[in-house]
Amino acid sequence: MEHYSPDVLISEEEISLRIEALANAINKDFDGEELVVVCVLKGAFMFCSDLVKKINLPIKLEFIQLSSYGDGTSSTGNVKIEMDVSGSIYNKNVLVVEDIVDTGLTIKTLFEMFEVRHPKTMKLASLLYKPSRTKHSVDIDYLGFEVEDKFVIGYGLDYAGRYRELPYIGVLNAGN
Ligand code: IMP
Repeated sequence: MEHYSPDVLISEEEISLRIEALANAINKDFDGEELVVVCVLKGAFMFCSDLVKKINLPIKLEFIQLSSYGDGTSSTGNVKIEMDVSGSIYNKNVLVVEDIVDTGLTIKTLFEMFEVRHPKTMKLASLLYKPSRTKHSVDIDYLGFEVEDKFVIGYGLDYAGRYRELPYIGVLNAGN
């Protein structure tokens, strides 16, 4: 059987501690309110699932799938909704949950597409942020970790569809 072991960049324990802190901030900021949590597929599935477990607010969970990357490691510059949320976000508190803000194009485009639906508030939680790659400035309200300009995988993030199942954030090494 094929063997691979990407190098660990952010461990399972570090991720879990950070998510707890983010959830505490969200619980405080939205105290007494309802929240529509929008998980951006596929990359945010693990982050979103661990995050919502720690949120103590009435939640409606939605999923959206966008296309921007294809199978490579650089943006195509063209963001499309492949699968939209199923419910209305009009007059709702929306928390978009993303895996990583790289150039910022995906999130900038998604926020523009959501703005015209007139949510009450719209915030962003992103597990990762690569500041060195920013082309479109994006406000991340709840940020997990900043990472340097390396292609990261695991904990939902893929390279050509692989590695999403890893419980930690890793970087591909020469052996992979
Ligand atoms: P952006 O539009 O350039 O900000 O790209 C965001 C999307 O590209 C993320 O939602 C990821 O799906 C993907 N992406 C960007 N950088 C990485 C990476 O280092 N590893 C895995 N996916 C990435």
